[in-house]
Amino acid sequence: MIYLTGDTHGYIDIRKLLKNNVTTQMTEEDYLIICGDFGLVWHYKHETGKERKWLKWLNKQKWTTLFADGNHECFPRLNSYPVKEWHGGKVHEILPKVLHLMRGEIFELEGKSIFVMGGASSHDRGPAVGDTEQVIGKFWWPEEIPSKEEFDHGLANLKQHDYKVNYIVTHCLPTFLQEFVKQGKYAPDAATEYLENIYHTVDYDHWYCGHYHYDLDADKKVTVLFTRILEAGKNVRDSAMMLGVPKYRRDDTVLFHCNGEERFGTIKETMPWGTLTKHDEPYYNIVLFPEDENRTAVQVRESEIIEKSLIR
Ligand SMILES: [Fe+2]
Repeated sequence: MIYLTGDTHGYIDIRKLLKNNVTTQMTEEDYLIICGDFGLVWHYKHETGKERKWLKWLNKQKWTTLFADGNHECFPRLNSYPVKEWHGGKVHEILPKVLHLMRGEIFELEGKSIFVMGGASSHDRGPAVGDTEQVIGKFWWPEEIPSKEEFDHGLANLKQHDYKVNYIVTHCLPTFLQEFVKQGKYAPDAATEYLENIYHTVDYDHWYCGHYHYDLDADKKVTVLFTRILEAGKNVRDSAMMLGVPKYRRDDTVLFHCNGEERFGTIKETMPWGTLTKHDEPYYNIVLFPEDENRTAVQVRESEIIEKSLIR
């Protein structure tokens, strides 16, 4: 089975892959595609201890991890890994079970064809990594936007497939869908414009991307992923909720069950994938209301919360 999810950002957002109701059921036959911002080839000089640890962790999972590149990757290092032919397309082999799906390639997996075109603009470049001049080649690389050769290579491959594939995997959206999802906050660029052309000229079953840090269906056949892990062909709307998608947010006041009584409290911390030892549902640290001197907090599982409350 082929599964897909959104950005992992190195070890920052990889917890969605820890024990949960999708990955625990995955087998040696399965593939997990990360739709860009993989982030475990990130340090500008060399592989760090943390990168190595998480890459090894991925490599020993039952499934094979595949990723398109996003904008948060160290491209010079990524492009230095050995290139291999794999299922009809080219990959960079990071480890035997951790493979980078190269731009413009079409892969055949389980009888399905998958067109991949990574890359996107770093819209968070200023706040995330500071002054651009200082960060080029350290936290930001111009290769985040595909080159003309990569775009042309993708079009040539699509032509060979009569502009028909089962799935499209990218990091960003076509321009008009990006406008819709980000309400005009992200400017169009060469990648979104290229993808808009693909949207109108390629026949496909479903398109998956990351980048926007939402889980939503941008239209009937285009799904943006972040925390969700979906089976290929499925969309967000028709898939069951899962861990990593908490119902309540920080600073929400809630009514909940606490030691046999009903109490009000304010959420101070959300743990979307559960605690270190309890992974069955999201957990919250809630400060009881009325607050005492010590601002006593309790750890509450999501199913113990009765409702969000406007009344304190
Ligand atoms: Fe991202």
